[in-house]
Amino acid sequence: MSWKNDQVSEKETERILELAQECLDISGDFVEMGCYKGDTSLLLAEIVKASEKKLWIYDSFEGLPEKSEADESVLGTNFKSGELLVTKREVKERFLRAELPVPVIKKAWFRDLTSEDLPEKIAFAFLDGDFYESIRDSIKLVAPRMDAGGVMVVHDYTNLALPGVKRAVDEWMQKGTPQFEVVLL
Ligand SMILES: C[S@@+](CC[C@H](N)C(=O)[O-])C[C@H]1O[C@@H](n2cnc3c(N)ncnc32)[C@H](O)[C@@H]1O
Repeated sequence: MSWKNDQVSEKETERILELAQECLDISGDFVEMGCYKGDTSLLLAEIVKASEKKLWIYDSFEGLPEKSEADESVLGTNFKSGELLVTKREVKERFLRAELPVPVIKKAWFRDLTSEDLPEKIAFAFLDGDFYESIRDSIKLVAPRMDAGGVMVVHDYTNLALPGVKRAVDEWMQKGTPQFEVVLL
């Protein structure tokens, strides 16, 4: 399956997949917080399919939430509430068409998820919620479940149009050193 994604660059995707591949030997499942159309999810499913691991993907399937003050940027005016809306059914159908195992697909706002909605242990996580609260809430859910050898990738950390991502990560990092690898794209 080849790269096709309007949200994540080809180079970033290559890095994500390389890291995910390395996590196949780590105990735990794969998670994507903010799957949108499932472009990256399909590639992760391809990696996971020959293993015992499961892929868990999460999205509001109602598009982006409201921005908070932390997300304001003159460069980011195109990121609006309700944008990037796809349905859960559309995403599920893409897996079926690609003849890939359908992941666990959860439709929810991240703030409404609890630890029960997450796998017991996570080997690889891709956080791609664009906004401050979305990344803050994703980290809160995912970090406690990460295996010590696992990798958590956060997208848009360096994206000046989405300043809330960096802020959420930096605030979390200030609380202590994570016991797993964090990759900021
Ligand atoms: C940039 S897109 C994800 C792109 C996807 N990871 C990929 O690689 O193609 C961001 C997604 O995060 C979802 N999202 C953002 N904040 C969210 C939140 N707080 N709760 C649930 N979904 C959220 C949006 O609905 C959107 O589909």
